[in-house]
Amino acid sequence: MDNNQPIGIFDSGIGGTSIWKEIHQLLPHEKTIYLADSKNAPYGQKSKDEIIALSMKNTDLLLKMNCKLIVVACNTATTNAIRELREKYDIPFIGIEPAIKPAATNSKTQTIGILATQGTLISELFNKTAQQFQNTKIIDQVGHGLVPLIESGKMNSPEMTQLLHSYLTPMIDANIDYLVLGCSHYPYLIPQIKAILPNHIQIIDSGEAVAKQTQNLLKEKVGFTTEKNGKPIFYTNANPKVLMEILGNKYDVVEKDF
Ligand code: SIN
Repeated sequence: MDNNQPIGIFDSGIGGTSIWKEIHQLLPHEKTIYLADSKNAPYGQKSKDEIIALSMKNTDLLLKMNCKLIVVACNTATTNAIRELREKYDIPFIGIEPAIKPAATNSKTQTIGILATQGTLISELFNKTAQQFQNTKIIDQVGHGLVPLIESGKMNSPEMTQLLHSYLTPMIDANIDYLVLGCSHYPYLIPQIKAILPNHIQIIDSGEAVAKQTQNLLKEKVGFTTEKNGKPIFYTNANPKVLMEILGNKYDVVEKDF
């Protein structure tokens, strides 16, 4: 089965590029279109209805751009809106959920930490998943303020270090051995997080799993491209500078009102 249409990816901002990188690495010939809805970031403090409306706005634009499947590269949008997206649109969606399962299954202390947005942590989808692991203590923490700092390019700032210390110290004290990053922005904080956590605590994010799921969906249902020009296109509705920087200044970013 062939399919030369692009893969659409959206996020509340620049964080979903952590997922885009995994997809592009695994499927370099696939064309990708990435939407950074930075104007509306963060999604994590918005109501479920607002998150659904924003996710549908992004989906409508990606469909106009003729995408063959859509990756919701935002935990908050996935946990709050993926069911509604699947009900409304006749196109496959892949979402990103916190990787609680591998952490809970492998934890020796039976205690894991999860850092995510408020929208993710209060969502029904997240809570149903967490309930499946009754024998594991889950220390959850809202990452208040982290996404706005990342969106404004302040990943290595003293404010970031201070916030991370205050969120991670109670988890270390509770004896976690896995930390789940439940927001696609947070993999960009791994160096800062590693500097705070003791070495035995493992950090898990979902990027690689989402890329593999995308590959499987192309193989089984949607079709791989037969072209060899997987040039990505990036759109942002805010200042493109931070997005360009996070992409290593290797790609053009188009400013667009959406
Ligand atoms: C946010 O916009 O608040 C974070 C996005 C995410 O949950 O991945």
